Amino acid sequence: MGEIIAIASQKGGVGKTTTSVNLGASLSYLGYKTLLVDVDPQGSIATSFGYGRYDIRAGILEVFTKNVPIKECIHPTEMDLFHFIPSNVWSDEVDRKSLIGASSNTILRSALQEIIDQYDYIIIDCPPSLGNLTFNALIAAHSMIVPIQCEYYALKALGRFLKMTRKLKIEHNPDLRYRGFLLTMVDMRNNLSKRVINKVRYTLQGLVFETMIPRNVRLAEVPFYGKPAFLIDKTSKGAQSYLNLAEEVVKHENVPLETEESEQTAIVAA
Ligand SMILES: Nc1ncnc2c1ncn2[C@@H]1O[C@H](COP(=O)(O)OP(=O)(O)O)[C@@H](O)[C@H]1O
Ligand SMILES: [Mg+2]
Repeated sequence: MGEIIAIASQKGGVGKTTTSVNLGASLSYLGYKTLLVDVDPQGSIATSFGYGRYDIRAGILEVFTKNVPIKECIHPTEMDLFHFIPSNVWSDEVDRKSLIGASSNTILRSALQEIIDQYDYIIIDCPPSLGNLTFNALIAAHSMIVPIQCEYYALKALGRFLKMTRKLKIEHNPDLRYRGFLLTMVDMRNNLSKRVINKVRYTLQGLVFETMIPRNVRLAEVPFYGKPAFLIDKTSKGAQSYLNLAEEVVKHENVPLETEESEQTAIVAA
C-alpha cells in the first residue's frame, strides 16, 4: 500500500506546488511509482506537465462534484512511473464554487483508497487555505510535508497552521504524521535567510528536513517548460535539491507523534 503525503501550508507562494511536482518526479526517478494529485482549484499542475485545457479528460473537480471514478482522472507524464490528477482549473466557475463548498471531508480519502495499491507514493498538492479541500487532503493523508519559505514572518504563519492541524488530527485523523518541515527559497547569501533557518531549526529541531531548497531559476521555469526541473536540467541546484529531498523521504520513517513538544514550542514562538 502506498503512502499518501500532503504538501500543505496555509500560505500561498511558499513552494507547495513546486515541491509537489519536483519531489514527485524525483521519487519516480528513484524507482517509486508516484501519483501527484492537485486539489487546488486555482491549481496549475497540468501546466507543469505541458497539458493544456483540451488535454484533460477529467480532474479532481469531477471526483468531488460528479462522482467520476478517480481512476478515470489519472494522466501520464513524460516519466513512466509518474502520473498526475489535475484539479481541472478550466472548469466553469459554478463547478469550481461547488468544489470549494464540497460538504464532505472524506471524499478524497474514499477516492484515494480505490487506487492506493497501485502506487508507492501519492502526493497531494494543497490549496493555500485551511478550507474544505485542505481538510479533505489532510484527512486522506498518512503524513504531511510543510514548506516554510525563508522569510521574516515564516514562524508566525506556521503557528496558526500547527494549531489547525493539531485539532484536525485529534478530531478526524489521529494517524496523521509529520514527514517534515521543508525550508524553501533559501538564499545563503542573505542574512535574513540564515536567521530564519536558525530559528526554524532551533524551534522545530528534528522535524526539519536536512535538505533545503535553494532559490533557483530552474524551479521557477517548470510551468514555462511544462516539465519538472529534473527534466529541464538534471544538474541544476534546484533539481538536485529535490532529488536529495526524495532520498531523505525514502530513508526516513514518519516522525511519530512525540512531535507535540516541538510543535508546542513553535506555536508559542510564533
Ligand atoms: N526554490 C524556488 N526557487 C525559485 N522560484 C521558486 C522556488 N520555489 C517556488 N518558486 C516560484 O515561486 C512561486 C510560488 O511557488 P509555488 O510552488 O507555486 O507556491 P505555492 O504552491 O505554495 O503557492 C512560483 O512562481 C514558483 O515558480
Ligand atoms: Mg500551489
